[in-house]
Amino acid sequence: MIYSSSQLLDKFNAYLLRLSLDRNPKGLYEPIIYELSLGGKRLRPILMMFAYLLYKDDVDVLLPQAAGLEIYHNFTLLHDDVMDHSALRRGKPTVHKVWNENTAVLSGDAMTILAYQLMCQCKAPYINKVLDVFSKTALEICEGQQYDMDFEVRDNVSIEEYIEMIRLKTSVLLAGALKIGAILADASEEEQQKLYDFGIKIGLAFQLQDDYLDVYGDSKVFGKPIGGDILENKKTFMLISALNLSEEKQQQEMMRWIRAKEFNPKEKVAVITSIYNQLGIGDLVVEKIKTLYNEGLSILSSVNGREAYKSELEKFANHLMKRNM
Ligand code: IPE
Ligand code: IPE
Ligand code: MG
Ligand code: MG
Ligand code: MG
Repeated sequence: MIYSSSQLLDKFNAYLLRLSLDRNPKGLYEPIIYELSLGGKRLRPILMMFAYLLYKDDVDVLLPQAAGLEIYHNFTLLHDDVMDHSALRRGKPTVHKVWNENTAVLSGDAMTILAYQLMCQCKAPYINKVLDVFSKTALEICEGQQYDMDFEVRDNVSIEEYIEMIRLKTSVLLAGALKIGAILADASEEEQQKLYDFGIKIGLAFQLQDDYLDVYGDSKVFGKPIGGDILENKKTFMLISALNLSEEKQQQEMMRWIRAKEFNPKEKVAVITSIYNQLGIGDLVVEKIKTLYNEGLSILSSVNGREAYKSELEKFANHLMKRNM
């Protein structure tokens, strides 16, 4: 029997429910339960499980590590929404809106610790390796998030700097999920590295898609406010490309909006989006996503794991690239 991604999703969600997080004080744990129960694609646990299944069948053994990674991911969302002044996540008000910023900070901190507890729940010979990957990844995400913040107030960010920033804030967690799955399945270091590299490429494509949907998505489906990146002056591939490709007049107009301290948010999003439209920035991102996705697939094809699961992983990655949520 071959597990599909939706079967893995059900398996994972059932495990998450069995972790008894309904603890005291409620003010600490309720926001954690709230965030985790809003759904989400559970992309990272599914990647970890597929990486394991490339080599071994008894995938239930890694449910604690899969949950640890997902809880860590959800912690980054709590803090990210404060940092990005974002009011909506998975179609619902963010934790700092329902409660307050202090709650988002402390519940987030507790989630990191829960993540470490779960990560350690594997057989002794794996603990060091798993924790090495996890700690390195967790720290890199903080580095990526700091670059993301630094870039908001810089207007000469290059495409290369942007790619490095999203590698850190987003890709390494997908790559780390795959690598931990491979470690727990006793795959060779070469295999672990290939899966990691595959994760980096699809992670870059995934973040570019997230940036694209932040402008061109449907908020009801995407679950996040449209135009948030534009309002925060995020130096996305889209904004950097638009600044690079624009004529002087368009560039001056964009810079005026970027520097404006007081403005009508709807108007800012509309003006910048219309410049993106004039410059064909949407098509440019879609091309870049395809290139990165194909680079990822070519790395995946060189992996030696079981063909049936290589094809499930490919199907899953393909489905992600076509996502609108
Ligand atoms: C959101 O991640 C943060 C990014 C790295 C873009 P996801 O899009 O995986 O969020 P959920 O967990 O499915 O809500
Ligand atoms: C995602 O960046 C990176 C992390 C959350 C670590 P974004 O800021 O683009 O994520 P969303 O769009 O808020 O989910
Ligand atoms: Mg954000
Ligand atoms: Mg952010
Ligand atoms: Mg985003």
